[in-house]
Amino acid sequence: MHLFLDTGNIDEIREITGWGVVDGVTTNPTLLAREADRGDYRALLKEICDVVKGPVSAEVTADDAEGMLRQAKSLVKISEHIIIKVPCTAEGLAATSAMFEEGIRVNMTLVFSPLQAVLAANAGASYVSPFVGRLDDIGHEGVDEVEKIRVIFDNYDIDTQIIFASTRHPEHVLQAALIGADICTMPAKVFRQMVKHPLTDKGIERFLSDWKKTGFSID
Ligand code: E4P
Repeated sequence: MHLFLDTGNIDEIREITGWGVVDGVTTNPTLLAREADRGDYRALLKEICDVVKGPVSAEVTADDAEGMLRQAKSLVKISEHIIIKVPCTAEGLAATSAMFEEGIRVNMTLVFSPLQAVLAANAGASYVSPFVGRLDDIGHEGVDEVEKIRVIFDNYDIDTQIIFASTRHPEHVLQAALIGADICTMPAKVFRQMVKHPLTDKGIERFLSDWKKTGFSID
């Protein structure tokens, strides 16, 4: 499963990409707004693309298809790595199909049902992002919706990639992997939680104290 980092924070991106485990980044208007004091969003997106060297999602803010297409054409000039995030609305679908014709890759976002995912795929989206955490927040089992999308896409050999999004904790990442999501996008906090295990820390402590007793050193 590919792992994406869900943030607009360049320090977090540098930190976690340094582990060699990040395949791409997803941003959204809220995440980029948090970084507004760093200056121009285009310069920030360029910097993110240069660090990640993989797919970086940047979202349009227009609410009509024509405006979305215009913004997409502008955003893809930032870097070859930019993927255009488009919300799953009727206008978003029309924009996605126009972007597909123009060779612009789309990540259809704010997807909450398998049927929205079917529409996204049919419109030509390269990626579809079901928001699991936000479904959980309103009392649904978000993971069940992703599982249904996986079944449908497999039934019809649909190659649109499923991004398990709105990931809140490591258990979500495990669920994403078990149901066959292509990608899981998550905040830096979840990456840091995933790497930690008390038995790893305890094991290191024991190995180092035993080694110290020998007086040997590895040069
Ligand atoms: C994904 O692309 C979104 O940016 C993200 O996962 C939204 O997560 P949230 O529901 O925690 O805001």
